[in-house]
Amino acid sequence: MIIALNNKCNLTKQEFLKYQEELEKLSTKYKLILCPTFLNIAHYNLENVELGAQNVSPKAPGAVTGEVAAIQLKEEQVKYCIVGHSERRNYQHETDEEINQKIMRLLEQDIIPILCVGETKEEREKQLEKSIIEKELEIALENLTDEQKQKIIIAYEPIWSIGTGIIPTNDQIKEMFKTIKQILPNNKVLYGGSANEENVVLLKEIEEIDGYLLGGLSLKPEKLKIFIEKLEN
Ligand code: 13P
Repeated sequence: MIIALNNKCNLTKQEFLKYQEELEKLSTKYKLILCPTFLNIAHYNLENVELGAQNVSPKAPGAVTGEVAAIQLKEEQVKYCIVGHSERRNYQHETDEEINQKIMRLLEQDIIPILCVGETKEEREKQLEKSIIEKELEIALENLTDEQKQKIIIAYEPIWSIGTGIIPTNDQIKEMFKTIKQILPNNKVLYGGSANEENVVLLKEIEEIDGYLLGGLSLKPEKLKIFIEKLEN
C-alpha cells in the first residue's frame, strides 16, 4: 500500500520544518511518499518518508524560464513525481501531450511518475468518465515501452471529488479501477479525492485500491495518523 501526500501549494519553510517533525513520528508498514512544493523539497529531511515532486519540466534543462528539470529533481533525492494533476491541467492548461513529455523526462532520470487521471462532474453526468481516462492514459503513455509503462503509478482522482468532501461510491471507484487495470494490469493504482480519516473505512473495502493520493489530509498529521491506523487495522 502506498500513501502519497500532495501538499499542493501549502506550507512556508518554517511551517514545513515543523510539519516534518510530526511526519517523522508516523510509523507504518506502508510506503509513504511526500510531495512538497519545489522550495520545500530542499528542506526535506525524513527517513521514514520518500520524496516526491508535484511537477517537472517537459523539456531538457536550458532556456525554459521558471521550470525545474528532472535531472535537478534527481539530485535532490526525488524518487517520485506527480504529473497531470487536474489542477495543473485546469489552471496551467497542461495537455496530455505535455504530460507525455514530462513522463519521458522523469523516466530518463529513473524518477517514478504518478500520473493523475479523472473526469469532471459534467463528464460523468454525460457518462464519459471511462472514455476520458482512456484518452488521458493513451496520450500520456504514447511511445512508451511496456517496461516503461509498468513503472508508472496511476492515481484516479475524480475532479468533482477533489477538495469537495464528496467521494464516489465504492461501485463507481471499482468501475474506474477496472477500466485502468484493463489497460495497465501490472500497475499500481491509487485513489485520490477527499479521502479522509472517516471515509477510509468505506474505501478500505475496495480491494483494487493500491494506495491513496491525499491532498487536504496530508496537511493534518494527526488525522493522517488516524487514517493510516484505520487502514492498517
Ligand atoms: P483532497 O484530498 O484535498 O481532495 O485532494 C486530492 C488531491 O488532489 C491529491 O492530489
